[in-house]
Amino acid sequence: MFNFAAGPASLPLPVLEEAKEGLINWRGSGLSVLEMPFTGPEFGQILEETLSSLRQLLNLPSNYHALFLQGGAYGQFALIPMNLLRGKGKADYAITGHWSARATAEARKYGSVNVVTDNSESGFTTLLPVESWTLDPGAAYCHITTNETANGVQFHQLPDTGAVPLIADATSDFLSKPIDIARFGALYASAQKNIGPAGLTIVIVRKDLLGDASSITPSVFNFGLLAASNSKVNTLPTWAIYIASLVFKWILAEGGLEEMAKRNRNKARILYEAIDSSDFYHCPTANDCRSRVNVVFGLPTKALEEAFLSLASERGLLNLRGHAALEGVRASLYNAVSEEAVRTLIDFMDEFAAPRKRQVRRHSFSAIRKSVIVNDVTSKWRDKWELA
Ligand SMILES: Cc1ncc(COP(=O)(O)O)c(C=O)c1O
Repeated sequence: MFNFAAGPASLPLPVLEEAKEGLINWRGSGLSVLEMPFTGPEFGQILEETLSSLRQLLNLPSNYHALFLQGGAYGQFALIPMNLLRGKGKADYAITGHWSARATAEARKYGSVNVVTDNSESGFTTLLPVESWTLDPGAAYCHITTNETANGVQFHQLPDTGAVPLIADATSDFLSKPIDIARFGALYASAQKNIGPAGLTIVIVRKDLLGDASSITPSVFNFGLLAASNSKVNTLPTWAIYIASLVFKWILAEGGLEEMAKRNRNKARILYEAIDSSDFYHCPTANDCRSRVNVVFGLPTKALEEAFLSLASERGLLNLRGHAALEGVRASLYNAVSEEAVRTLIDFMDEFAAPRKRQVRRHSFSAIRKSVIVNDVTSKWRDKWELA
């Protein structure tokens, strides 16, 4: 079986194997990690090891905190403005796909939002150059989504926002490649892609941005309080943190983020090459912003797409259906997805397309299907999020 889920996603097998021990008898302590008090010495050790591995992986500068909390990345859509508007009342938001549109809609509840760029016209298949963004130098921060999990769009270069702190939802490409933390005021990621199980959210935040949270910020989500208490304002998601510690150690043992980036680049390259060289599959995303972790593509007709997904599943190629708000196929290639998995998918794609190609040529795929994908995405988004 190969799992291409967008999240909760595939975890490395050695991590799952070691977790079996932690489930029953952690390091001979006689305790399951699930039974440990979060304030006790055993979990204290796990937390310390998790933080230390994360700092090592990210090369985290000393003027940043790493916070562990609950609420998911969607929770951060509200918590970022609550914690980081710092009395300024306004922030910049880049709308580049499904998740940044949601982040923007949520932020509007807490302050005034300036949309610096909005790619919905292209059906979220491009990124507009930062020179065209309408940045506000008085904004408290500028929010981006480094990788749009649903649309398969990724920033390969970070925008320069000058003195305005850059804040990123990095949920789906966190730990998939090295990242220059110093470029950010803060970034956050929910765990269920490259970190571990759902239930844990990691926030990395620059120390000087703390201390001016809005008075309505719940204490359990106040970044300043979390930083001061080593994330122990209330009960931590202990099991999720334990699994994250195993994942971090696995990444370090495999060669760190450079190695993850190399593998992820290669997996994405062979899959995009297979799509582009085919006259059957189509990726609507512009070349310069194609995601290396969520590869989105379509087939010539909806019926063929359904047949593809159903047969793929029978063959053990699981969870390839695109995001519910969009149509199409999506292969998520997070760190635990092997090159073998991607090659097996490509072989299956060739096998599926071969007998069906003649039927498709009659429909002039590139002229019809491409516009259907893009227009559907655009109109669905307009209806749902009132972006127009
Ligand atoms: C980029 C991005 N942001 C936010 C979310 C929402 O995360 P959660 O469900 O953990 O709140 C997701 C979920 O897939 C995501 O991919």
